[in-house]
Amino acid sequence: MEKLLIEGGHLLEGTVQISGAKNSAVALIPAAILADSPVTIDNLPDISDVETLAELLEEIGGQTQLTDDTLVIYPEKMFAMPLPNGRVKKLRASYYMMGAMLGKFKKAVIGLPGGCNLGPRPIDQHIKGFEALGAKVTNEHGAIYLQADELVGARIYLDVVSVGATINIMLAAVRAKGRTVIENAAKEPEIIDVATLLSNMGAKIKGAGTNVIRIDGVDELHGCRHSIIPDRIEAGTYMILAAAMGKSVLIDNVIPDHVESLSAKLREMGVMVEEADDQIFIKSQPNLKPVDVKTLVYPGFPTDLQQPFTSFLTKVEGSSMVTDTIYSARYKHIDELRRMGANIKVEGRSALINGGIRLQGAKVRASDLRAGAALVVAGLMAEGVTEITGVEHIDRGYGGLEEKLKGLGAKIWREALNEKELEEIKNS
Ligand code: EPU
Repeated sequence: MEKLLIEGGHLLEGTVQISGAKNSAVALIPAAILADSPVTIDNLPDISDVETLAELLEEIGGQTQLTDDTLVIYPEKMFAMPLPNGRVKKLRASYYMMGAMLGKFKKAVIGLPGGCNLGPRPIDQHIKGFEALGAKVTNEHGAIYLQADELVGARIYLDVVSVGATINIMLAAVRAKGRTVIENAAKEPEIIDVATLLSNMGAKIKGAGTNVIRIDGVDELHGCRHSIIPDRIEAGTYMILAAAMGKSVLIDNVIPDHVESLSAKLREMGVMVEEADDQIFIKSQPNLKPVDVKTLVYPGFPTDLQQPFTSFLTKVEGSSMVTDTIYSARYKHIDELRRMGANIKVEGRSALINGGIRLQGAKVRASDLRAGAALVVAGLMAEGVTEITGVEHIDRGYGGLEEKLKGLGAKIWREALNEKELEEIKNS
């Protein structure tokens, strides 16, 4: 196990390349199960979730070949191997194995997913969709059992706007008989990306990116080649870093429209944000204004940027408020920021930040992926050295983090944990 060390206070300057979107990749890889011939996915991020999913496809008889940022998936020999335990528990997105395996084999057994602990994360809407398509779904000993004689298209209204449920129902419906309509669907760019892959495989999908998606089932899907969209959350994290510590930073390979809610907030604070085709240029400014932020479904401010944004706000003189309407308990980073000297009160779903403070380097622990990103932002801003454990969470979502930050002039490195630190983690 390793820890990340950051010597804070160095201004960032230069260009950073954004990788392919994690939250697309983790759906596109299982989607390949539905094809009858090889699927090639380009522009994959170098993150552990991608490796875990490729290994899961091998467990069900598939072959995979990962070279640089390209994964070729050979689905021809896949079968409905039950996956009640093991790797499926490592990441939440393994729930996409349910939709994809149900769609292909009409049956699946998948252990209840793990992933970041952000408070309650039910999957009732996924199950509602599978049942509407004709599957029998039971939960036995922590695994979901799905079985259908045949899948038949249905009209499904999502009670909660859910990215995961929207994608999972699309996966199960593309090879069902007849038409499926998903109402109150999520509109995130990753949904369009998955619909694009499925359409290139021969699926008939209309309306992805709007709140009504119509799918006409087909008998077969074939292989294709697909390049993943840029990661808007990785881009947003670097935009926040640049606003906090950037002399001038160019974010390259980004779709500016996908991060508009963040760009608008940064401008409201007084940060200089300039957009070009697939680039965003950020220059921090003195005397930034405090702001209030509320996370919402796309195109609102993303919950996945709430944590790193909170770190940034500790530096801004005055009171700012962050409210997470998507996850009630996504505040585990705040105790760690307090260790670094931040003045933040959490009341219900909101965090009140009393800013204008120079954080101090400290030993902190990343409890989840974006909490880790928040601590990296904090460490870069802080005086002295910050030591971050729980790096495995960060590695699930930020490929090449140290190289990218070093390229901007940050002082960041990794060290193996010593025995005392390993013992402390074991006992915590
Ligand atoms: N919800 C339900 N029932 C369901 C599904 C969701 O009540 O059946 C609720 C959730 O509890 C939450 C809200 O609906 O309050 C939205 O959840 P959603 O299903 O949209 O989240 P998700 O699909 O599980 C994805 C991303 C998350 C991101 C959310 C929200 C992936 C693999 N994960 O999760 O990303 O926070 O959408 O945008 O795509 C991250 O990248 O760090 C991350 C956690």
